[in-house]
Amino acid sequence: MDRRGFIKICAGSAAALAMGVPRVWAEDFRDFSQALLTDTDGAPLKASTLGTEEAYIFHYPYKGVPCFLINLGKPAASMTLSGDPLSAEKGPYTWPGGVGKTSNLVSYVAICTHQLSAPNKDISYLRYAASGSELAGAPGKIVCCAHGTIFDPAKGAEHIFGPATYPLVPVRLEYNPVDDSLAATGIAGHHLIDQYFKSYKRDLIKEFGPGVYRESVGGHTIMQLLSKYSESIPAC
Ligand code: FES
Repeated sequence: MDRRGFIKICAGSAAALAMGVPRVWAEDFRDFSQALLTDTDGAPLKASTLGTEEAYIFHYPYKGVPCFLINLGKPAASMTLSGDPLSAEKGPYTWPGGVGKTSNLVSYVAICTHQLSAPNKDISYLRYAASGSELAGAPGKIVCCAHGTIFDPAKGAEHIFGPATYPLVPVRLEYNPVDDSLAATGIAGHHLIDQYFKSYKRDLIKEFGPGVYRESVGGHTIMQLLSKYSESIPAC
């Protein structure tokens, strides 16, 4: 199945979200409390131990907001991406590029900017296809199999193909070369999260508990492989 032949694999609950999605996703970064990324035992992760085969997932800045951490295996330089050209007040924005010893680590809010499909414990239609996929073809792309969108994580998660129009929202990471640790310190495009909470309220309450999904993650957040977090990850 090539891109043209890609119709719709599974809309899932995203199908109910066709209306009311804001037109602008990126804006200036907003600071949040710093959260150290840890393993499932609470130990600070070592950035140099991260693999390149798939995305890692953590939650930030709220307990109900999934984010991807990806080791590209190569540097990713800062670049300017376009905001919504139809909006007077939201123009281009600067993606800061990768962090880590070789600027190879990137992070994005794992909520698709098309209809807000996002990983949960049951399923993730959004994934990092490190070695390529039927839809993406080339390796190293993020694909959303809800409706077939491709993003490029090496270029600020800019939109490459499919029904989404805007890049994924970036997460700001800080790398500490002294102890090889990583911390999240902010995100852009907070209005995407507002919309996600509104649209997925029932699912978020079910997974995290009433109100819990809106709570801050605090000073640390657990990171694990996406394949350990989501039971099913459809391929496309
Ligand atoms: S939610 Fe439609 S392509 Fe991601």
